[in-house]
Amino acid sequence: MFDPTMEQTLVLIKPDALKNSLTGYVLSQLSEFHAGVRFAAAKIVYVNRILAEEHYAEHRGKAFYTSLLDYIQGKVHYPDAPIKRRVIALVYQGENAIKKIREIAGPTNPHVARDTKPGCIRALGTVVPIVDENGKIIAERMDNLIHASSSPQDAEREIKLWFRPVDIPPLM
Ligand code: CDP
Ligand code: MG
Repeated sequence: MFDPTMEQTLVLIKPDALKNSLTGYVLSQLSEFHAGVRFAAAKIVYVNRILAEEHYAEHRGKAFYTSLLDYIQGKVHYPDAPIKRRVIALVYQGENAIKKIREIAGPTNPHVARDTKPGCIRALGTVVPIVDENGKIIAERMDNLIHASSSPQDAEREIKLWFRPVDIPPLM
């Protein structure tokens, strides 16, 4: 039977957060004390192209897609240091974990986050223009520090993509 206290969600601490030393801040904001959810699993991941494409499959074909893949792979923030490219993947669990963490993360666009929800994690992000080969701005990339699953279906798909069952302790 479905137990709402066991709802799980995937969080990724993205390369911009790691580069800007915001890992501790993000973990603190998402702590049980603040967020009311518990850790179920954690790992450091080197993100290859296949994983990046799978994770962001719903955005395939959009103007920002290729740049987004570079971003989540760490190529944008560590162009000359592949060894530093990684994300921290976490599973959190608890009642309404998905909604609670999306609330603390805030709106996708950091400008909107600053305007409407100062204090949320993504209010510390940046918006970067994406230009074509002629220097024309064709889209914007949102470097917004964390990923958080947005629905139970997404959470289930994403957790399976980033974690093996044995990575998540039993009972979690
Ligand atoms: O992450 P979230 O579910 O809030 O947003 P999304 O619409 O599913 O987009 C996934 C990610 O793509 C965002 O978190 C941004 O990093 C990025 N994105 C972007 O770079 N430019 C956009 N116009 C929209 C999203
Ligand atoms: Mg999304």
